[in-house]
Amino acid sequence: MIDLHCHILPGIDDGAADMAVSVAMARAEVNQGVSVVACTPHILPGLYHNSGPAIRQAIAQLQGVLQQEGIPLRLVTGADVHVTPDFVGGLRSGRLLSIADSRYVLVEPPHHTAPPQLEDFFFNLVVAGYVPILTHPERLSWVPSHYEMIKRLVQGGVWMQLTAASFAGAFGRNALYWAERMLDDGCVHVLASDAHDAERRPPDLAAGREMVAKRVGAEEAQCLVLTRPMGILKDQAPSSLPGPLAVADASSMSTLSTDDALAPQRGDARGGLRGVSGRLRRLFR
Ligand SMILES: [Fe+2]
Repeated sequence: MIDLHCHILPGIDDGAADMAVSVAMARAEVNQGVSVVACTPHILPGLYHNSGPAIRQAIAQLQGVLQQEGIPLRLVTGADVHVTPDFVGGLRSGRLLSIADSRYVLVEPPHHTAPPQLEDFFFNLVVAGYVPILTHPERLSWVPSHYEMIKRLVQGGVWMQLTAASFAGAFGRNALYWAERMLDDGCVHVLASDAHDAERRPPDLAAGREMVAKRVGAEEAQCLVLTRPMGILKDQAPSSLPGPLAVADASSMSTLSTDDALAPQRGDARGGLRGVSGRLRRLFR
């Protein structure tokens, strides 16, 4: 597997506190069956002043330590880049980093407010030749009231990365509900750990893959943790990679109602529909 979102670099954000934690996380990744990790520290002006050259240096240092320790894990460049002005200019100058210097870039919007002109922001990235990957939409508090926009973004070429632990309920009922709903609606492209340490938020991609496979089948689960991530590392065009499975009755399932803010309370009622749609999907594959 390939883990494309991991705060494994030591001491530069709220991820690994020091090199010992980084090494423990690397061992945990290998134990999960992960062979490549994108090192993706936060880049958030005012809080995490990381930049491309410093991240590259930290990756080279950690890779050297892993080699000394005999841990077979390949590290590639990346960043968890928060929405900021002049994003495209930052990528072109090298101040911001895409994943493995590909056209794919992790983008983290604010957690509690949908920024105005968010669609324009993503449009500008797409026309500049990038494929934005919006990180963990299922955990953003504004997604329930903006789900139609999320779907428009997907149709417009924005990819979605969900967090493995969301499917275990680690981020609460809301995140679990939206993770499952987006998966069922065929709106998820990549599953990643977004690990921050070796204990509280550890690498857990194997467990995530298993939970997702129960829902959408082993083949789509493989696409989420290997096929598409591999394509990203090779900088393959999104059109050349398998798209997320669409649920057979997506249009009826995805109809939004005004009580979507109460979505988790509706979860049980939707469970039957999801079960039926999952079975239909497997029949059509
Ligand atoms: Fe992150």
